[in-house]
Amino acid sequence: MIVLDRTPGHVEAFAPAKLNLFLEILGKRVDGYHELESLMVTIDLYDRLEFVADPSGQISLECDDPNLPTDASNLVVRAAQRIKNDSGTSQGVRITLNKKIPAQAGLAGGSSDAATTLVALDRLWELETPKHRLENLAGTIGSDVAFFLSAPAAICRGRGEQVEAIEIGHPLHFVLFCPPMGLSTAAVYRQLKPPDSPRPIEGFLKALRSGDSRALGQSLFNRLQPIAEAIEPGLLGVRKAIEESEPSLDGSLMSGSGSAYFGLCHDEGAAGHAARHLGSLGLGWARAVTCGP
Ligand code: C5P
Repeated sequence: MIVLDRTPGHVEAFAPAKLNLFLEILGKRVDGYHELESLMVTIDLYDRLEFVADPSGQISLECDDPNLPTDASNLVVRAAQRIKNDSGTSQGVRITLNKKIPAQAGLAGGSSDAATTLVALDRLWELETPKHRLENLAGTIGSDVAFFLSAPAAICRGRGEQVEAIEIGHPLHFVLFCPPMGLSTAAVYRQLKPPDSPRPIEGFLKALRSGDSRALGQSLFNRLQPIAEAIEPGLLGVRKAIEESEPSLDGSLMSGSGSAYFGLCHDEGAAGHAARHLGSLGLGWARAVTCGP
């Protein structure tokens, strides 16, 4: 995330989307969540947030997407309330959210907005919250929120909130392909039967470290993809289009619980070409994105 102090009492921030390059389910837990192992990266597709101090002590949110709630059911408001209560501060904030990351796409836009809100309010209200405390707060808001405190790349375990940051060392170029239909994460997990022999992440990590884009492309894996495609058969055409994309990609996958897909590209130029080709098909919007140092 990018967090900028504009003037005293005014912070501007950019919350990135994420992709799951590897996602395996290890089992179902007694609390109803699933134990998972995932490699996540942030990409340069951002929601924009503005935070203006409010001396009244109130927390309020305005959003340019009329389909999103602006009450406490929005993760941004929930994050603001959590850090306000945790710190005991009497300060308030007016938050403005400009959405660019599509909802119900497996890109964790809402979780990223929440994580960015924690960091931005820590700055705006001069709280100096220790990182482990921010991570604990993040874990109580949603499974994917803590990851964004350790971006751009991490292995996530538990229900997603146990985060081990890793170095990638070289930029990764993708084409992102987002169809208009969205998928509910809870609905996808409800249909899931955890595998008897989960796929270990080590093979994927070896390919990632090798710097060989084709080997990495062949190691991309998402246990949730067949389930999402069974719930929403319209996704099969989206998958086929990205698999057959020209110029050919090093690999492709659905992100998280869907509905967005991404292709791994050899370089920035190939990602741009693929975005133009996929965008012309009328199946959704496409753009070239990058993760990396
Ligand atoms: O934690 P979050 O609110 O983002 O999760 C949304 C839903 O996805 C949960 O209610 C749960 O049904 C499912 N989920 C799961 N196991 C995980 C993460 C999410 O079953 N590790």
